Amino acid sequence: MSASCNGTSREDMKTIFLVDDDITNLAFGNDALCKHYNVITMNSGSRLIKMLENHTADLILLDVEMPEMDGYSTIKILKSNEHSKYIPVIFLTAKSDTESELTGLSLGAIDYIAKPFSPPLLLKRIQMHLLVESQKNQLIDFNDNLMEMVDVRTKMIEQLKNALLKTMAELVEYRDSTTGEHIERTRLYMSLLLETLQKNEKYQKEIESWDMDLILQSSQLHDVGKIAIRDGILLKPDKLTSEEYEEIKKHVTFGENVIERIKKNTSERAFLDQAKILITTHHEKWNGSGYPNGLKGEEIPLQGRLMAIADVYDALISERPYKKAFTHEEAVNIIIGDSGEHFDPDLVDLFLGIADRFKDIANETPQKNDEQEDTAAANTENADEPGFSK
Ligand SMILES: [Fe+2]
Repeated sequence: MSASCNGTSREDMKTIFLVDDDITNLAFGNDALCKHYNVITMNSGSRLIKMLENHTADLILLDVEMPEMDGYSTIKILKSNEHSKYIPVIFLTAKSDTESELTGLSLGAIDYIAKPFSPPLLLKRIQMHLLVESQKNQLIDFNDNLMEMVDVRTKMIEQLKNALLKTMAELVEYRDSTTGEHIERTRLYMSLLLETLQKNEKYQKEIESWDMDLILQSSQLHDVGKIAIRDGILLKPDKLTSEEYEEIKKHVTFGENVIERIKKNTSERAFLDQAKILITTHHEKWNGSGYPNGLKGEEIPLQGRLMAIADVYDALISERPYKKAFTHEEAVNIIIGDSGEHFDPDLVDLFLGIADRFKDIANETPQKNDEQEDTAAANTENADEPGFSK
């Protein structure tokens, strides 16, 4: 075993392991390369394997025909070991037939050089392979960095999207501030309903492809169309006339238009499609008397049927100028009473199993106690609450 021309290694030079059972070949190879590389010579494949337990090389020159363990067996071990599998191997051999060369290359060698070799040519080929190896590693590093940058950027865009989304939802609340924390609470109710739905065999197939985060994010936009409702109606302190109520109902179509306009400027679809479903179906009713399309039963997308329960429960437990806030128990009873009328009866059953947790959410995210805000709420919600006539 030797290192470099004078037996010492230099840190600025790459390291080559030269393996050959013939001592003359080892000396010849060392002489050819030692001015440019730290050359470590070994006379068997097993010594190479042993050496690699504690050291590494930039390149391995490996003889094919050796006693005990030949070059082919040796490279198989190298390539099966995580520590050595990426070290480039060049076969040095007197066997120059095509089949032997093909065998060597197919076992993972990067080159196959016939002996006796020309020292300048050997040097050139090693330089070329080390250059390729170095560029390959740079490319891997670059790709890793690129992936990292893409991850960071993706997270930033996701954060920005969520921030904009929250702001849009809050803009609706600012205009129709009677809803207080309505948007946040309905998001939490939806989260609870979806979590329960996932455990229910009946719905598992239907929802297996759903992106729950996407649905929860988009649920915040269910009333975004209220942004286009006139103040005179949206903030009217008294009950609405039937004409004014017809105007309020348009918030669904306005919301749909908002989503369609966004769609024209982006190729994103998953989020926007979910938002559109929730916006356009959260006022549909199981018996077909809802709006805007009078959909009936399971014609109403499951997301919309869920949103109806979350939306109405929250309206019921909220105080309005024309009514007190119903207690949780009263709200639950009203929803039971409207099972099969306003609501999907199976989902009402599902709701009843988790109603106590709805109550917890309502208590943890209480409504704002601002009378003016509450007054405005009456205009936009009362017509949609079961148990109340317009
Ligand atoms: Fe609505």
